[in-house]
Amino acid sequence: MTGRAEVVVSAGNALGEGIVWSPAHREIQWTDIHGKAFWSFDPATGAAKSIALPERLACFAPLGGSRLLAGFASGLARFDLADGAREEIAAIEADQPATRLNDGKLDRRGRLVFGTMDESKPAQPLGRVWIYDGGAPRVLFEGVRIANSIAFSPDGRRMYFADTPARVIWRFDYDNDSGEVSNRQVFVEVASDHGFPDGSTVDADGCLWNAEWGGGKVTRYTPDGRIDRIVELPCSQITCCAFGGATLATLFITSARGGLDEAKLKAEPQAGALFAVDVGVKGLADTPFAGVRR
Ligand code: BGC
Ligand code: CA
Repeated sequence: MTGRAEVVVSAGNALGEGIVWSPAHREIQWTDIHGKAFWSFDPATGAAKSIALPERLACFAPLGGSRLLAGFASGLARFDLADGAREEIAAIEADQPATRLNDGKLDRRGRLVFGTMDESKPAQPLGRVWIYDGGAPRVLFEGVRIANSIAFSPDGRRMYFADTPARVIWRFDYDNDSGEVSNRQVFVEVASDHGFPDGSTVDADGCLWNAEWGGGKVTRYTPDGRIDRIVELPCSQITCCAFGGATLATLFITSARGGLDEAKLKAEPQAGALFAVDVGVKGLADTPFAGVRR
């Protein structure tokens, strides 16, 4: 891999998302939300597999073995991929039938920060951003249409977040001890040729890589919000990204086929694939989920 994103799994995902590197499994793992499937890819062997799920999975954190902290559309659960055993943790926004979980990320202390989105069209600001540390999930802020781009600076003291339709990525101060956000500031206003900000990851230099829904790119922003680099993809709906591989030196990128009409699908036959690109920068290992009994 040299600077060009290549297809590594022709997954045909309706909505690939939530990608993470699991060091214990030595796998890149992601979810096809609308396809109701959990996917994994082992870069050492090139083997990929998918497991059918009972509900749409929006985001997750590996818990060890075959267990996940699962951010299902309707709420959080512990889920065992081996036998399908599901133990509910908390329903999320059960009073808002139009919202579902969406993007989520572990903070540098291993808590899960996740957001919801309104599935109505156009999306209304009914969603929220939540934090879960093993106790009762709590709301960080509300008024969100489609929560995305949640990511943390290397020291964990900044949190990035996008409300996708607003085409803005914000940066908050993040208190690692309390898990509170404050001082919301515009980090970047995304130009129309960059589509809409979807999922993000932060690299070891503290730069933010953001996947562009409708923009067909992943863009790297410096910590002061300047565009530093652009990875072009051969399809338009780019959804999320994460560094993986034994040395975290490969950027893996998910995409979506869902919603593309026949003509677009013809023009973008690779839509829904998992891509990889060597960008000459390394990622940061996630802090494993902390706070739940294991
Ligand atoms: C959501 C999709 C949405 C897309 C672009 C994704 O994170 O899961 O449902 O269409 O962002 O807004
Ligand atoms: Ca809901």
